[in-house]
Amino acid sequence: MGKKLYIQTLGCAMNERDSAHIIAELQEKEHYFLTQNPKEADLILINTCSVREKPEKKLFSEIGQYAKLKKQDAKIGVCGCTASHLGDVILKRSKSVDFVLGARNVSKISQIIHQKRVAWVDIDYDDSAYVFSQNPNSTLKGMINISIGCDKKCTYCIVPHTRGNEISIPAALILDEAKRMVGDGVKEILLLGQNVNNYGKRFSNEHRAINFTQLLNEISQINGLERIRFTSPHPLHMDDDFISEFARNPKICKSIHMPLQSGSNAILQKMRRGYTKEWFLNRIEKMRSLIPCLSVGTDIIVGFPTESEEDFLDTLDMLEKVRFDTLYSFIYSSRPHTQAQKWLEEDKSVKLVDEEVAKERLMLLKERHKEILTEDNFKQIGKIHSILFESFDEENLLLEGRSDTNKLVRVKAGRNLVGEICKVKISQIKGAQLLGELI
Ligand code: 5AD
Ligand code: SF4
Repeated sequence: MGKKLYIQTLGCAMNERDSAHIIAELQEKEHYFLTQNPKEADLILINTCSVREKPEKKLFSEIGQYAKLKKQDAKIGVCGCTASHLGDVILKRSKSVDFVLGARNVSKISQIIHQKRVAWVDIDYDDSAYVFSQNPNSTLKGMINISIGCDKKCTYCIVPHTRGNEISIPAALILDEAKRMVGDGVKEILLLGQNVNNYGKRFSNEHRAINFTQLLNEISQINGLERIRFTSPHPLHMDDDFISEFARNPKICKSIHMPLQSGSNAILQKMRRGYTKEWFLNRIEKMRSLIPCLSVGTDIIVGFPTESEEDFLDTLDMLEKVRFDTLYSFIYSSRPHTQAQKWLEEDKSVKLVDEEVAKERLMLLKERHKEILTEDNFKQIGKIHSILFESFDEENLLLEGRSDTNKLVRVKAGRNLVGEICKVKISQIKGAQLLGELI
């Protein structure tokens, strides 16, 4: 009988990919299998996120809860960005933690579980460490890291500190992994990186020169692969070449996540994002002129230090102009090792936005986005989408899948069509759900 692993994953898609890597390593090399019940686990892992302060603060109470309910000899490990950021401070603060493994060190999981009270958090530049572990559970969708770390220095962001400078994974490794996945039945691949379209700027070693647009093109030539998605591109690096490949290539899904962060040029500059709202709008207009059905998602931070009412109105204005399909919005959270925190500490003229004001702005933003989404969802009635079905509820005969534009669509159907891509006409809107009929 193998050992049981319980893993809690917080944060972004990158962390999900890292958790998948950890699970595959432990299954292959240490014969673990997954459990959803921490009480019966032999190993409990928390894959942490440090982008905002709150989840980081909650980490120690979570460790305490796991320590109370775990089996007597079970181990607890802390992985991910907070592990990178706090390192052995976690061991000092919590006697229940057996090891700490940084976000850049996931491939060492099968070694560290045999160590006692150690923290491995160095920034590793060896790309052989990112050779993908075989995932024995083939599914319809696969995730591939194409780069690690981030070279940008956005002034609010702790990620360059926790995940280190950016290196690209050699294209040959990515293509091999994609082919293997497709051979295992994967239809859709999600390419991951903090800054995917900066791909190819730096490798850890001598490797074939290739940029993101060329990589997309090469992956799309894999027979049997139906769909490619990626997250997140940086608006600054969205050049015309990329836009024309994106528009022209039928395998590249027509939905894009473009983190705006703020609609105010003054705030964008203070965030060091490197673009203006005019550039962002220009990129959207160019893409929409080629792809009228394009769906756009974004991330927005409200309450960045010094953000005025006028700055916030500029952000709201971008909602009207772009009409984002998905919005992840956050209140600014001051993070160590960031320029913005330094300004707050050292420059008396830089102040945090009042908490109540920031909360109100977040609420207004979310409300307006919800209205826009409802209006736009109604425009979907009668439209035809290609849906890749991912699940089938046999009791209610309901198929569920996603359109090319990443909309979740449900369809009543007499048979299981999971894994197939079918044409569906949208017939009804129920809350945020789109309902359709097979045609
Ligand atoms: N405070 C609030 N939100 C942040 N993000 C990154 N850093 C911070 C911070 N300090 C948000 C950005 C980013 C997303 C992953 O998290 O919007 O795109
Ligand atoms: Fe953080 Fe900016 Fe890098 Fe994104 S691009 S991970 S926001 S520093």
